[in-house]
Amino acid sequence: MLSTCETPVGVIDLPRVRANIERVVTYCSHHGITWRPHVKTHKSLRIARLQLQAGAPGLTVATPREAEVMATVTDDLLVAYPVVGGNKLERLMALPNSVRLMIGLDSSEVLAMVRHAAAAANRSVRVLVEIDAGLGRVGLQTPAEAVRLAGEIRESPALEYAGIMFYPGQIRSHSSTQDADLAVLRGLLEAFYDALGAAGLAPSLVSGGSTPTLWRSHEIPGLTEIRPGTCIFFDREGLAIDVAGPEHLAYSVLATVVSMAVSGQAVVDAGSKALAKEARGGDDGFGFLLDRPEVLVRSLSEEHGILDISATDWRPAVGDRVRIVPNHVCVSVNLQDHLLAVDGEHVERWPLEARGRGPYEATGENSN
Ligand SMILES: Cc1ncc(COP(=O)(O)O)c(C=O)c1O
Repeated sequence: MLSTCETPVGVIDLPRVRANIERVVTYCSHHGITWRPHVKTHKSLRIARLQLQAGAPGLTVATPREAEVMATVTDDLLVAYPVVGGNKLERLMALPNSVRLMIGLDSSEVLAMVRHAAAAANRSVRVLVEIDAGLGRVGLQTPAEAVRLAGEIRESPALEYAGIMFYPGQIRSHSSTQDADLAVLRGLLEAFYDALGAAGLAPSLVSGGSTPTLWRSHEIPGLTEIRPGTCIFFDREGLAIDVAGPEHLAYSVLATVVSMAVSGQAVVDAGSKALAKEARGGDDGFGFLLDRPEVLVRSLSEEHGILDISATDWRPAVGDRVRIVPNHVCVSVNLQDHLLAVDGEHVERWPLEARGRGPYEATGENSN
C-alpha cells in the first residue's frame, strides 16, 4: 500500500509511536508527574486512545472541536486556551456531563464568560489561572494578578479554583543547555507559589511542560502534570535540540519525485501544503529525508518541495518515493486528510477526527 498510495501523505510508524508513549509514561511515573498529552499534535482518536491506555489520565485540547472529539474517549479534559467568542463556550458546556472540564484562562473577562456559560448549563467547571512563564504570549505577568484572579475564581459559584498553568515555549535550546532558562523559570514559579500560598490559594494542580523541556520536567518544582504533545511523533526541531534521537522520529511525509530536470535538486510532490512552511531560522530548509538525513528540503512552493542533492551521490529517478521529516510536525499533520499508520507490513488509514473547527459528528469510520 505504501508503494502504491497517492502522495503526499503523512505516515506514522506505530511501533515508534508506542515506544514514544511508553518513554513519557515511564519518565512521568518515575518522577511522580502526570502526563496530560496535548492532542493538537495528532488530532486522532486512535492515538489518543493509545495515550490513555498507556496511563495518561486525561487529555489537553485547544479547540472546541478537539474537546468534542476527545470527550468520546476520556472524561478528563483540560482546555488549555482562553475560550472567547462565537458559541465556543456553549459547545464546551454541551459536552457530556460525565466529562470533568477544566479551562485555563488569564483574565476576569474570560472568567466572567466561563462563569456565565457554566451557570447557564448548570455545570461545574474547574479553572486554572494561566501565568506567563516567559514566553510572552498569554498568562498573567505578576503574582499579585494571579492571586486576584484565583480569588475571583474561588468566589465564583459553579467554578472550582484548581490551580495554575503555564507553557514554557520560550525554552527551545539544546536539552543539555537549558540550565539557565530552567533556573529563571524556577525563580518565577517560586514567586507565584509564595504569593498564592500566602493568600491561602496554594495551587493543588500545576500544569506545565513542553516537548523541549520534557526530560527535565522533574527539575521544575511543584509541577503536578505536563502537557507535551509533539513528543508523540517528534520532528526535526526535537532532533536538533536532542530531546529525541533518529530512532524516535515517528512521522514523515511520503512524497514522490516528480522532476529531476534541474541539476543539483530533486523535486517532490510535497510542498508547503503537505509539510508546512515553518522555518527554523537561518537558511536550513524545511525538513530532511528520513533515510538520508544529509538531504534537506531546501525550499517549498505550494505543491513542490525542492530537495538539495548537491552534497550527496544519491540520484533518485522520477517516480521514486521518499519520506520527509518536517521541521514542525504538528502543523504538517494538520494539513493531512488522514494518516497512514504503518506496523511492519500492515498499513491502516487513520482519520484525523479533531482537524477543522466545526462541530464534531461521530461517523462509523470514526468510532473504531
Ligand atoms: C498551552 C500549550 N500546552 C502544551 C503544548 C505542547 O507543547 P509541545 O508542542 O512542546 O509538545 C503547547 C504547544 O503549543 C501549548 O501551546
